[in-house]
Amino acid sequence: MAAPDRLFVALDVESLADAEELLRRLDGVVTGCKIGTQLFTAAGPAAVEMARKRGVRVFLDLKFHDIPNTVAGATREAARLGVFMLNVHSSGGVRMMRAAAEAATKAAQDLAVPRPLVLGVTVLTSLDRRALQAEVGVPASVDAHVLHLADRAREAGLDGCVASPREIGALRLALGPDWVIVTPGIRMSSAGGGSDTPGASPADDQMRVASPRQARDAGADYFVVGRPITAAADPAAAAREILSQLA
Ligand code: C5P
Repeated sequence: MAAPDRLFVALDVESLADAEELLRRLDGVVTGCKIGTQLFTAAGPAAVEMARKRGVRVFLDLKFHDIPNTVAGATREAARLGVFMLNVHSSGGVRMMRAAAEAATKAAQDLAVPRPLVLGVTVLTSLDRRALQAEVGVPASVDAHVLHLADRAREAGLDGCVASPREIGALRLALGPDWVIVTPGIRMSSAGGGSDTPGASPADDQMRVASPRQARDAGADYFVVGRPITAAADPAAAAREILSQLA
């Protein structure tokens, strides 16, 4: 896969106008974006439509987590919007994930659109072992629970999962070459954010980071990058530098 097809810029902004301005500045460099709960809550499906009109593929990061029938309906609507990939919480269970996978397939057939990839979210990176045990009630290590949930996601027919750079290697080993792995937490170097990213500290609030090349070498398929690009003085130049490491 060509490097530009593997990069999704996180549009973590508060309005449709801000999102469009960002994509305008990245025109000709970036061909994928991630629309999450902030922008989608602010602007709705218009954000997806705006990106698609500009020829930019969309990862709809709304992390569906509900009863199977509701998640199937939401997945169908995401497919109707023409998103390239979307995600659901793996802790919603196998039946819920299977409903999403089947809805994606059926919607693609019914609506004559490409079938979106459906990914599982395993353990939020904001949870550590203590929180996982004491608050969520899961008596496993984070790593073991990530592998357990990814395995359930595959059983349910999902295409892949979202994983922190630290988890990529073990997931690739356990789930094989066809499992799609999408990773956030990309930073240009652990030593600093780069002279052209004054708005972004080295890691911001990311606990586990990797350079684009490290994440590629660990076996990730797609890379989600936010602030290293969006907070850079020259977002297109920052994106080009990241793409050069992915090539
Ligand atoms: O700005 P930054 O590069 O940290 O943005 C990363 C994006 O990936 C954000 O939109 C964030 O919500 C998302 N993400 C993450 N860690 C996860 C899952 C999603 O950073 N485990």
